Amino acid sequence: MVISSKQNKIHKNHASQRVRQISPSGIRKYFDLISPDVISLGIGEPDFTTPWNIREAAIYSLEKGFTMYTSNYGIPELREEVSRELERLYGLRYDPKTELIITVGVSEGVDLVMRAIIDPGDEVIMTDPCYVAYQPAVTLSGGIPVLVPTDQEHEFTLPASEVEKRINSNTRALLIGYPSNPTGAVMTREGLLQLADVARRNDLLVVSDEIYNRLVYGVEYTCFAALPGMKERTILLGGFSKSYAMTGWRVGFAAAPAGIIENMMKIHQYTTMCAPIMGQMAAVEALKHGEDSVQEMVESYDWRRRVMLKGLRDIGLTCFEPRGAFYCFPSIKKTGLTSEEFSERLLKEEQVLVIHGSTFGKCGEGHVRCCYATSMPNIEKALERMGRFVSRLI
Ligand SMILES: Cc1ncc(COP(=O)(O)O)c(C=O)c1O
Repeated sequence: MVISSKQNKIHKNHASQRVRQISPSGIRKYFDLISPDVISLGIGEPDFTTPWNIREAAIYSLEKGFTMYTSNYGIPELREEVSRELERLYGLRYDPKTELIITVGVSEGVDLVMRAIIDPGDEVIMTDPCYVAYQPAVTLSGGIPVLVPTDQEHEFTLPASEVEKRINSNTRALLIGYPSNPTGAVMTREGLLQLADVARRNDLLVVSDEIYNRLVYGVEYTCFAALPGMKERTILLGGFSKSYAMTGWRVGFAAAPAGIIENMMKIHQYTTMCAPIMGQMAAVEALKHGEDSVQEMVESYDWRRRVMLKGLRDIGLTCFEPRGAFYCFPSIKKTGLTSEEFSERLLKEEQVLVIHGSTFGKCGEGHVRCCYATSMPNIEKALERMGRFVSRLI
């Protein structure tokens, strides 16, 4: 869209202080540059179509005439299924009536929770780099994101000692997202226990974005809320977009103590009212009969993960082994380019799209995010083109 200078002035004059503090996502600028010749390792979404039985459940619900608003908390059947799933996977028991809310994806969950728990000036500790929506969600709530640098040497995990150093009387919450977007890192149970200890001693809330909980390869997955004493101080955010290839359906959930869910619901009821009913119906089917599909997709991602990792290393880029989500986050430092220069030139010269690491935070500089949720021929072609590009630089 072309914005005239007069319109631009109006936009600027009427922009709130909070919105002025945030920038558009660095990923967005690439969307318009994708052409049929470009191989995209850019966008973080499954290349699978939602499994047929899940789509069929939504079609069936439409045929039956389910086209209306739902309870603000989400349809009871979905809350019951989510509750059952959390018990099945982690032994956690959430009351579907009071401790769960269905959201419009985890995106809404992140926004709701921040607005429900943050007062102006409150600080929220998170990793650098991290998912692009975390800092804006805190800033738009009037809070202050406090970033803890993480690095490749420590596989982008979050050291409890570094969190503790940043805690003061304004610290309200710790926001974690493992498996991580953009790095693919997974925290060990031991590492999470240390964070839990810091949260307990300093009376912090912990917001745990576990959207990639099912996409973990060859390591144990630990749900933060399932650690001893953590359920009462954790807001667990979960979703369907990644595990069930349901990005377009816009369904997620938050599980937390009843008082927090009630406060999130107050905002949700005035802003979005409810997640789309057909998405909620589809999500019920996903939880009831989606397990085989999840396993198949995980196997396929794991295969592609290994090919991508080996390919990047063969090109000469250093990359730690990512154990979750569907991203590799290689270092491109030896090319001498910034991550943004690397991405722009790779796109222009070899028609491969990767996302520059600096878009996820200062500590993402020197890295690029490569999403391997694309076909194997695409991965192979992309690696060949990247190899050609890198060999011209090092
Ligand atoms: C870490 C993380 N959290 C949340 C989201 C948003 O997911 P949803 O589609 O459920 O809104 C994403 C999407 O990429 C993500 O990577």
